[in-house]
Amino acid sequence: MASEAHDAHARSIVGTSVITLDDLSIAQINELLDKARYIDTHRKDVAHTCDGRVLATLFYEPSTRTRLSFETAMLRLGGKVIGFAGAQLASVTKGESISDTLKTVSNYVDVVAIRHPKEGAALVAASAASVPVINAGDGGHMHPTQTLADLATLRSRFGRVNDLTIGLCGDLTFGRTVHSLIETLCRFGNVRFVLISPKELRTPQYVLNRINATKDCSYVEVSDLSEVIGDLDALYMTRVQKERFFNEDDYLRLRDTYILDEAKLRRAKPTMAVLHPLPRVNEIAKDVDDDPRAAYFEQVRNGMLMRMALESSVLGDELPGFDAYVNKEVAA
Ligand code: CP
Repeated sequence: MASEAHDAHARSIVGTSVITLDDLSIAQINELLDKARYIDTHRKDVAHTCDGRVLATLFYEPSTRTRLSFETAMLRLGGKVIGFAGAQLASVTKGESISDTLKTVSNYVDVVAIRHPKEGAALVAASAASVPVINAGDGGHMHPTQTLADLATLRSRFGRVNDLTIGLCGDLTFGRTVHSLIETLCRFGNVRFVLISPKELRTPQYVLNRINATKDCSYVEVSDLSEVIGDLDALYMTRVQKERFFNEDDYLRLRDTYILDEAKLRRAKPTMAVLHPLPRVNEIAKDVDDDPRAAYFEQVRNGMLMRMALESSVLGDELPGFDAYVNKEVAA
């Protein structure tokens, strides 16, 4: 499989549900990255882009960043938000199916963001809904809007998202952000993945197959972070996903396998970027936070900007001034 990095002009994504980033072309993803950058510097100009719109956040699993940034994104665009954070107060406790919930909520809102512990739940939701549905994380499967935040962060650090050596470290089995990111980076092409994990938490075969099928991407699997850290342009740390383990003893044994601290960072390139989707537990020591290589709070900010870009785009609400801004950049 060749990369799609040189895709043609972006077609509109109005009405599109985003379950994985495969639902968007590379040109469309690039346009979202451009929109997020524009939004960041034109906050007042875009403040009424989604006036009259309503977003529903249906979160069947805990979240801080994803739910709050989806909601803040809509509020900052002039829209309103409804939803639930935790299924315990919703009618799922009475036995309602996801399909019935989405058929219902589609009558109330213009766009839905859903997080669910089961892989495939977002796809079921999108099939039932009559408005665009955005996957805010489905079990250990995918987390496409986190990937948008990751891409924006890589682009802001390196000016590109390809021709990089990227280490992914920690729980590569259950870490849905890792799966989304690898699949998408393969589409941009020319990435060397260094997959760093204990043998129990290796990358699933379907994700490795994707790398194997991409002619200009490659991977190695290793277990020692210190051995490879000096080769990396970016290091993507992940939390061991306690909630997806069947056995608490295994979690306790594996949770602190990797702890990135300033001592380990001394072996890294001075320009290496440290990413983490957050929340972190112990895998990045606090002493790393003040290091200029720490990019994880930039990721948080980029997450909100990318969700603003995505929400306005699937709704077909144009950002005032964006077209002129892009044309000026192309002409320059
Ligand atoms: N990165 C992320 O998905 O964080 P939350 O679980 O807090 O939403």
